Amino acid sequence: MSDRYALVGNPVAHSKSPWIHAEFARATSQDLDYGLLESPLDGFAATVQRFRAAGGKGLNVTLPFKQEAFRLCRTVSERARRAQAVNTLVLETGFGDNTDGIGLVRDLSQNLNCSFRNVLLLGAGGAAQGVVGPLLEAGASRVVIANRTASRAKALAERFAGASGHGYDGLSGEFDLVINATSAGLADEAPPLPPGLLRGGVLAYDMVYGRETPFLAAAKKAGARTSDGLGMLVEQAAESFFIWRGVRPQTRPVLAKLRGA
Ligand code: ATR
Repeated sequence: MSDRYALVGNPVAHSKSPWIHAEFARATSQDLDYGLLESPLDGFAATVQRFRAAGGKGLNVTLPFKQEAFRLCRTVSERARRAQAVNTLVLETGFGDNTDGIGLVRDLSQNLNCSFRNVLLLGAGGAAQGVVGPLLEAGASRVVIANRTASRAKALAERFAGASGHGYDGLSGEFDLVINATSAGLADEAPPLPPGLLRGGVLAYDMVYGRETPFLAAAKKAGARTSDGLGMLVEQAAESFFIWRGVRPQTRPVLAKLRGA
C-alpha cells in the first residue's frame, strides 16, 4: 500500500495540496497517497491520532490548527519553535516543522527574483507568525508588522530582533516588499493601509492565492509589482515533501502547470 499523507484543516475542500503532492510524487517516483482530512474544530488531536493509528505517515496542517499542532508535537524544529506554529507533522516520531517561511522566502528569491531589505508585513495572526523569522534570516534588515489590533503586532514583534509592531494609523516608511498576511482578502476587503506605501518599485505580495484580492488590485493601481501566494504554496509543499521523503522535488514545472490551469 502507498504511504499515506494528508492536509488537515477546516475547511480543506478547495485545497490544491493533493494535486501538488501527486505531481511531486510522480516526478520523483515516490509511492504515496496525499488526501484531505477535515477536522472538527474541537477535535484536532483526535483526528490526528486516528490518522496515525490507521498508518498515516505525515500531515500538513492548515487553518486554524497550526498553533495547536505545535503544542501537540513531541519535538519541533528551531524554525517551528520560533514561529510557535507547525504546518508539517512526521507522525512516526511526533516531530513538527514549519515550512511556510522558507516557502515564502524561496518564492520571493527564486521564482520572483525579489531581493528585499525593508519589509512591511500586514497582519499578526497565524499566517504572519510563520514568516517573520525566515524573512529576517533571509536578509531583511527590518520587518515592520502592522495589524488592525496593534497589541497583537507588538506582541509578535517582541519575539524577533529586527521586527517592530504597529497599528495602521500613522504608518510610514519606504518599503521594497509589502506582504499581506491578513485574512481580509477572504472577505473581499483590504487592510487599511495609509496611501503612498504601495507604489512603483514595491513588490506587493498576498499570501492568498487564486484570486486578485482588493489589496493586490490597489497595489496594481498604485504601480506596484504584484504576486499572489501560489508560489509560496508550492514551495512550502516541496519542503514538506523533502522532510517526509528525503527527496527534493522541482517546483517550477508544478508552479507553471498551476499558473497555466
Ligand atoms: P490567520 O491564521 O489566517 O492569520 P488569524 O489568526 O485569525 O488568522 O489572523 C487574521 C489576521 O487578519 C489578523 O491579523 C487580523 O487582524 P486582527 O488581529 O486585528 O483581527 C487580520 N484581519 C482580518 N480581517 C481583516 C480586515 N478586514 N482588515 C485588516 N485586517 C484583517
